[in-house]
This record gives sequence, C-alpha cells and structure tokens, in this order.
Amino acid sequence: GTGIVIAIDGPSGSGKSSTAKGVAKARELRYLDTGAMYRALTWWMLHHGVDVSDPAAVAAEVSRPVITMGTDPGDPTVKVDGHDVTADIRGERVTTNVSAVSAVPEARELLVRTQREVIEAARAESAGIVVEGRDITTVVAPEAPVKLFITASAEARAQRRSKEVRTGDVAATQADLARRDRLDSNRAHSPLTRTEDALELDTTGLTLDEVIALVVKLADEAG
Ligand code: C5P
Repeated sequence: GTGIVIAIDGPSGSGKSSTAKGVAKARELRYLDTGAMYRALTWWMLHHGVDVSDPAAVAAEVSRPVITMGTDPGDPTVKVDGHDVTADIRGERVTTNVSAVSAVPEARELLVRTQREVIEAARAESAGIVVEGRDITTVVAPEAPVKLFITASAEARAQRRSKEVRTGDVAATQADLARRDRLDSNRAHSPLTRTEDALELDTTGLTLDEVIALVVKLADEAG
C-alpha cells in the first residue's frame, strides 16, 4: 500500500458513502465514515437524555462516550461504549438531531482529533484510507492528494436516499435532505463547502460503478 489519503465531501445522498466504500474495497484501503461518528455521538446524547438543542449541554458531555469505528469497508461497524449501534444510528431520531449536535464546536474538535488519529494510524501501516464527510477536504485532511466534492441533483439524492431507508415518501425525504443541507452548509463551524482545489463530481447521470471507476483512476494517478 501507498498510504494514500482520499478525502471526499458532499451533501447527504450524493452517493459519497457508496463511492468511498467501493473505492476502498477496489484498492484495499481503509474506510472512515465521519458522518457515522457524529451520528454515534448523537445516539449517545439521545440515549442519555441530553437536550441536544442546548449546545452547552452537548458540549459538557462530548468526551463521555467511547466511539469505536470499524475501518474495514466491508464491515464498517460503529460502537458506542462497546455497544454495536451500526443500525440504530441510521434511524429517524438520530437523523433528525445529528445536525444540531454536529454544529457544536466542542463536538467537532473532539471528533476531528479522533479522525486525524485514524488517518495517521492507517498511514503508519501504509494502508491508505478513504475518508468521507462534510469537512474532510477543508479541515480534517486538507493535505490529502485526492480531494473530491461529490454532488447530485436534489431529486437524484432524494431518490437514492429513500431507496436506502426503504421509504416510498420521496418528497418527505427530499425535504429532510434540504433541511440538513441548509443546517450543515450554514453553521458557523466548518460548514459544508467546496474548496477551490477539490474536484467537483456531479453523479446525477452516472451509475455507482462509473463513479467508483473514476475515483479509482484518480487515486491511481495520484498514488
Ligand atoms: O454523512 P451523514 O449524512 O451520515 O452525516 C450525518 C450528519 O453528520 C450530517 O448531516 C452533518 O450534520 C454531520 N457531519 C458533519 N461533518 C462531517 C460528517 C457529518 O458535520 N464530516
């Protein structure tokens, strides 16, 4: 392995998770889903009755949960205090509240530090890693040799996400995605933004395999 870092940002439903996992599998790289870390932290807060609409309450508790991320793209298990929450963190309650938790600066500081440790650990083993989220190209790994901003039309993103969560209500899904995009793009700390040096990839008219092949090619050229 080359220890390459591939940084991927983009809004919900853009296909960035499936792409990141596919690329990691194709090139035997590690995989880190940073959105799952914000979801795990949110899960813990809700589980412990913390008022997530109160940033001070969230800030006071951020260092309590032990969040463990599986970095195998074939089995990215997420644990909180040793408890497997991989499925639970995709639920509606976490999804509704995650943007409030992820806007708290103390939460971001802590998780960004952990994310950098995971990246360093992968590089120390020359394993290489694909990292995806909202602030990977801007804050977590701005020095990554491959930086991508993956997008898709609002309609395409809602279609894909409703398939994922198996709901027929595409309009409701689209409204929820729009709400999270607005919160994630307008928050004061590390909002979702595309930097000049990140390559924008609009996946609206592309299949997942086409997108993966494209990113694998970019990775091979860079690494
Ligand atoms: O990627 P996913 O939709 O699972 O992310 C869930 C939420 O976590 C996002 O809506 C965003 O609020 C937050 N997030 C973040 N920074 C990241 C990854 C996710 O703020 N790097």
